[in-house]
Amino acid sequence: AVKDTAEEEECSVYVVGGFVRDLLLSVPTQDLDFVVEGSGGQFAQALMRRIPNGKLTQHIKFGTAQIVFPDGSHVDIASTRWEHYSFPGALPQVEESCLRDDLFRRDFTINSMAICLNTDRYGELVDYYGGKQDLQQRKIRFLHNISFIDDPTRMLRAIRFAERYQFDFAKETLDALHTAIETGVLSKLSVERFTEEILLIYKEANYLTMGQLLVNSGLFKAWFGKDLAWNFNLEDAVGSAEWSLNLRWLISLAKMDSLEIDIVLERVILNKSLRDETIAYVQLRESLQKPLTISEMDHLLNKAPKRVVTTLARDGRYNKRITECLEAGQRINMALDGKTLIQMGLKQGPEIGEILAQVRMAWLEGRISTAEEEQGIARQ
Ligand code: CTP
Repeated sequence: AVKDTAEEEECSVYVVGGFVRDLLLSVPTQDLDFVVEGSGGQFAQALMRRIPNGKLTQHIKFGTAQIVFPDGSHVDIASTRWEHYSFPGALPQVEESCLRDDLFRRDFTINSMAICLNTDRYGELVDYYGGKQDLQQRKIRFLHNISFIDDPTRMLRAIRFAERYQFDFAKETLDALHTAIETGVLSKLSVERFTEEILLIYKEANYLTMGQLLVNSGLFKAWFGKDLAWNFNLEDAVGSAEWSLNLRWLISLAKMDSLEIDIVLERVILNKSLRDETIAYVQLRESLQKPLTISEMDHLLNKAPKRVVTTLARDGRYNKRITECLEAGQRINMALDGKTLIQMGLKQGPEIGEILAQVRMAWLEGRISTAEEEQGIARQ
């Protein structure tokens, strides 16, 4: 469809950036980014006519469009020429540049390549800045030395790509990264964008070595204002799964005291689930400092989010007590319930809850192990 639309609209179309990088590296990739030399708006609309069920959103101000498919996947379309109107009814202002400029505005050489999709040049690699050579030599190299100042998220992206592909930094890029960290370039970054970037890191397979680099490079110290006890030990690895982001996050905080975790929470904006679990983690950990009966423990562990319990159960300081309590919980085989108690002649009310709690406690403490014994406690 892209090829045909390009012919119809008489413009040049390229797939660019991460897709080209991953194609040359033969690794799976997700996003498709197109750059159109010509009118991006017209191209996007013409492409839509060939893609049933797609939904088009145009961001005229940024010269980009996005087509979202019913399965949630999407393609992004940027353009080297985009008409924008300074006020409704005004004549369109056309800004023109060329592919070379578009690619030069990008972060690293390995992300600055394009492949032409027009019929006559189909598959032709456009590589103005030595991206292919850097891929072969496994180097992360910026395109210009103010790259990190232009966009400080690139400091985190540099670390992400270096560890994802096990590439080294080109010397000037590493120097520029250190200079940017030391001179406070990160302060230009919003808390939202910083959070987005670090969560992308926590989703990566190599998030632990990326985390180590965030600490060792001084980047985290620059952002959070001091050295914190981040935990990115390789033996604490958590495999990737839908729910593992939160677990990875909580484990990375496990060596910090509550005050340090407060500092972290002030410098990131987490979604509700991650924030609530972080707070629940701190609270449960504080509760576990005190001596607790097994039923108090059982109550706390049942109330806390599962990932919070898992994180603390992996921590040597709490592992034994939590495992004991969870094992005791597994032995519970309660037959008694509220309905049975009513059948036994009890009136509905708080007493029923209390009796059930007492029976549960008896199971936990190993005082009973059969249904008859349960009934015995209920009758007392
Ligand atoms: N880009 C950039 N500077 C940024 C973000 C993105 O120059 N701060 C450019 C790069 O050319 C990048 C492209 O935009 O390849 C697409 O960005 P994005 O989808 O965020 O990254 P990908 O390179 O596709 O990486 P990933 O594999 O993590 O999706």
